[in-house]
Amino acid sequence: MQKLYKMIQRVASSSSTVLIQGESGTGKELIARAIHELSPRQDHPLIPVNCGAIPEDLLESELFGHVRGAFTGAAHTRTGRFELANNGTLFLDEIGDMSPKLQVKMLRVLQEKVVEPVGAVKTTKVDVRVIAATHKNLEKEVAENRFREDLFYRLNVVPLHVPPLRERGNDILLLIDHFLTKFAEHQGGKRVEIAQEIQELFMSYRWPGNVRELENLIERLTVLSDGEVYREDIPEKILYSSGDLPPTEGGSVVVPEFANIVANLSEGVDFNHEVDSFENQLILSALDSTGWNKNKAAQLLNLNRTTLVEKIKKKGLERMEG
Ligand SMILES: Nc1ncnc2c1ncn2[C@@H]1O[C@H](COP(=O)(O)OP(=O)(O)OP(=O)(O)O)[C@@H](O)[C@H]1O
Ligand SMILES: [Mg+2]
Repeated sequence: MQKLYKMIQRVASSSSTVLIQGESGTGKELIARAIHELSPRQDHPLIPVNCGAIPEDLLESELFGHVRGAFTGAAHTRTGRFELANNGTLFLDEIGDMSPKLQVKMLRVLQEKVVEPVGAVKTTKVDVRVIAATHKNLEKEVAENRFREDLFYRLNVVPLHVPPLRERGNDILLLIDHFLTKFAEHQGGKRVEIAQEIQELFMSYRWPGNVRELENLIERLTVLSDGEVYREDIPEKILYSSGDLPPTEGGSVVVPEFANIVANLSEGVDFNHEVDSFENQLILSALDSTGWNKNKAAQLLNLNRTTLVEKIKKKGLERMEG
């Protein structure tokens, strides 16, 4: 994160295109705003466009504008967001969701620095700094032909990768402190206490929703608590993420990892990734419990030894030190 902050300061002074990649809720939009605020363009507008939320046709006129009569319903000429961002910054959020047709248009605008409103005969020159962001892995999207390679390179002049919260170590504690103070101010100044035991639980949880998930939780705890946070106030998926199994009710078994995934299903999960990671855990557990004896591990899993050996090789599983 320190490296990232230095990068933010360094790129702010230029007009280079920046591509911010990171999981949902890691702070990509915050970073885009910080770059704009620190840049010489700070007195001009920062115009955000969510490329994932707007249908293709609308997005085209949203971005580039249209002239009167360009299509049915275009009663007035409309200035696109590219032009609105002139001398400022255009924040193209969720660029990975942009349609192939618009990707072509976008490439042209970035290369020629002129926009062509829908239905217009003339182009307009613009001076816009573009910051794009996506929670997708754009290299992978390119490899799988869902994102144009030329546009990727045009955007990826300065790449910024925002790490997920679970990889930021003690940052979690700093952020907890920050949000406790922030929400205390909203709630009339009373700061809620979170015992160390609970902070440790936070450190071992995987935070699939990243900083946004942490922020929402601290807000909820601040609103609901009478000054101190108790174990009962903490969601089960966090309580049982470090491996302690929850008490089972009516004989049902709750696998914590699985409960975690299901809890986040509405945000979308990567099926192959989840299945793969479950397989890894299962194989590693069998190997660990047999001292990495592959014959015995294969027996535990009811797999052929060769199948197990192939999987270990393919997945690149290795014995942990200690
Ligand atoms: N370092 C930070 N300090 C304080 N708040 C943060 C930090 N990083 C993120 N946040 C907060 O977390 C929330 C999510 O951040 P943001 O919207 O920038 O994430 P995002 O990466 O754009 O997410 P998404 O991919 O879902 O759009 C926001 O409320 C933001 O203010
Ligand atoms: Mg965002």
